[in-house]
Amino acid sequence: MDFVGTGMSELARVEYPRERKANMAEHLIIFDTTLRDGEQSPGISLDPAEKLEIAEQLANLGVDYIEAGFPVASQGDFEAVQAIARGVDGPVIAGLSRTNLSDVDRCWDALRDADAARIHVFISTSPTHMEHMLKMTPEQVLQETTAGVARAREFTDDVEFSPQDATRTPVDFMLEVLAAAVDAGATTLNIPDTVGYGIPWDFGSMITYIREQIAGDYVLSTHCHNDLGLATANSLAGVKAGARQVEVCVNGLGERAGNAALEEVVMALAIRDDVFDEVTTSVRTEELSRTSRLVSRLTGYPVQYNKAVVGRNAFAHESGIHQHGVLAERSTYEIIEASKVGQKGSQIVLGKHSGRHAFADTLAKMGIKVQGEALSAAFTRFKELADRKVQITEADLEAIVVEELGADVETGYVLESLEVAGGTVKEPRAHVIISLGGRKSEGDATGDGMIDASCRAIRDATGVEARLVDFNVSSVTGGIDALGDVVVQIEDGDVRVSGRGVSTDVVEASARAYLNAVSRLVRTRSRDDVRRIVSGP
Ligand code: KIV
Ligand code: ZN
Repeated sequence: MDFVGTGMSELARVEYPRERKANMAEHLIIFDTTLRDGEQSPGISLDPAEKLEIAEQLANLGVDYIEAGFPVASQGDFEAVQAIARGVDGPVIAGLSRTNLSDVDRCWDALRDADAARIHVFISTSPTHMEHMLKMTPEQVLQETTAGVARAREFTDDVEFSPQDATRTPVDFMLEVLAAAVDAGATTLNIPDTVGYGIPWDFGSMITYIREQIAGDYVLSTHCHNDLGLATANSLAGVKAGARQVEVCVNGLGERAGNAALEEVVMALAIRDDVFDEVTTSVRTEELSRTSRLVSRLTGYPVQYNKAVVGRNAFAHESGIHQHGVLAERSTYEIIEASKVGQKGSQIVLGKHSGRHAFADTLAKMGIKVQGEALSAAFTRFKELADRKVQITEADLEAIVVEELGADVETGYVLESLEVAGGTVKEPRAHVIISLGGRKSEGDATGDGMIDASCRAIRDATGVEARLVDFNVSSVTGGIDALGDVVVQIEDGDVRVSGRGVSTDVVEASARAYLNAVSRLVRTRSRDDVRRIVSGP
């Protein structure tokens, strides 16, 4: 992609010309196990209809295999695998099975109507699993392997075998079991890092060693768990060492800390195709975000905000320096084009680290053109708010600017400070400092509540008596730090004007709205005075 032959890539290796890569690349099988290992995440339980909906989207995403479930585990799982086998076109449908013959038979019963089906047979091979779980000797495990794989081969030519807990299995024994599986007819050898114990270079060496030691026509596969946060790295190391299938889950779901995330593995291969020039996948990356959202919705597992590729912050920039860079040229701080993974595009998130550049740009995109002093005033106000509010949305911005521009353009009163005190015991009181054309004045008052006291203090400071006839407060956005948007109407004789104020603090928003209305009242009165003087009594 864009980065071939630059920086680190140049140091790392000699480049192949692009055209050569396309010809040499082998297909990497994407084996999705969201509906089997992913569903084993604590607290997830999908019904057959939900599993079918996800399977259809996985087919749309372009995965090669869908491991639809573990049919012997429950009637629900059996039905889900059967429904997917019957109803989903495109990917090969796989089911998981222990080596017991009755498990294998049940697995096949669920899969038999698929256009193409795989039985995935597994048995534990590590000393700890054999001793404490299986209570079997290594010899028995070898026999089980042969029997289970051979039974599966009676039903289908596509049989995968996994020595569970492979990364904690003595290598010689693992090789013996794998060789037995190949002899019995396994066509894929999957190497599970069941407890996420592997380290990328060791895992890669293990894959290389297996390839060297086990003869036969089979595909090597990785199945990496994320207990040390290395599942994606280990899977990629496996690919680099010759694995041609990766087992992955959408959003990195799976037992405990999960499995290698489909979206991470696929995008690492796509973005660093200069490094992984030996493989290609058929995943339609534009569908990644949609798939992630669907899986998150149906499983009830939220996607962490900063999740690579599909997290809501994956393309969001908050600091002024980053925003400036991205606005000038996207690639300064982004290696993935958001649309390539179905995300909306770079997002400039306005917050307390944002700069004037991003602020003005966001307003311009909203169709609000502000320049010069008005922009400075609005920016200052935005910064004050950003210190108090986690994230400022477009709706918040519009409210700030409308209020701030109203005051600036029409040169009205400015609220310099507001102090309020009160509660259920003490009488509410307020102290304000306001300015008009740079001249400051202060006001104090008590009132029925803090809002009432603030309005009275403004009356004291401005000397403008007016009756509050309408008061309306609403929240601009949701959440406890939402902006309160206050609109008031005040009346003095036959003149009625309105004012608006926004703040995360509803008392402050009310004071701002009241002062805004007083400014308008004063202007209206002075225009009337001028008219009267010009036209005579
Ligand atoms: O993690 C694991 O070992 C598994 C096997 C069943 C492949 O999920
Ligand atoms: Zn697993």
